[in-house]
Amino acid sequence: MPTNFDGLRRLTPDDAPAVLEAFVAGGPEMLRQGDVTTLAQAVAYCERLVGQLAFVAELPGLPVAALVAITVDEANRNGWLFYWAHPDARGRGVTKRAARTVADWALSPVGGNLHRLELGHRANNPASRGVALAAGFVQEGVEREKFLVDGARIDVLTYGRLRSDPVS
Ligand SMILES: CC(C)(COP(=O)(O)OP(=O)(O)OC[C@H]1O[C@@H](n2cnc3c(N)ncnc32)[C@H](O)[C@@H]1OP(=O)(O)O)[C@@H](O)C(=O)NCCC(=O)NCCS
Repeated sequence: MPTNFDGLRRLTPDDAPAVLEAFVAGGPEMLRQGDVTTLAQAVAYCERLVGQLAFVAELPGLPVAALVAITVDEANRNGWLFYWAHPDARGRGVTKRAARTVADWALSPVGGNLHRLELGHRANNPASRGVALAAGFVQEGVEREKFLVDGARIDVLTYGRLRSDPVS
């Protein structure tokens, strides 16, 4: 398991203050990423992810510009990939590149050696779709009216990427 690769590094417990900053700055958009409103919660969040495959992209002044992580389903050699970016880092392709790098590594026999990656996002989150497609995922389904957000039912789009998928 690499510590650093292709401009990414592993998340560490020391990232908790920067993670808290990203959640606070991100406001309601970050709510579904976790409950992180205090340093103690940020520490717990980092400790939970440190045991998984969690990688960070840095930018000058932003020690955690974007996070891409995979929760591994060992029994099936699958993984659930998720990501977020600090608001000041968004729209610069940082998450796209990080997600692609992590997905490529996770499916490689000499990397994470997983067979299948999955992810999902709310249908009204086009930036997340941009990241998913850039990371080589294909849409596999729609979970209709899955979430209740501010009184409205929101579809969730689901994606997969197999080790054998041709990816340009
Ligand atoms: C979703 C999120 C991770 C995107 O991060 P980002 O760093 O801005 O993403 P990138 O700049 O790397 O790429 C986003 C892609 O989506 C595209 N995109 C952004 N907003 C878009 C919009 N409104 N409509 C269509 N495409 C859009 C971008 O153009 C880019 O694709 P392109 O370069 O091919 O054009 C970020 O907005 C975020 O953290 N949101 C809150 C948490 C979240 O929603 N996480 C995902 C949950 S599944």
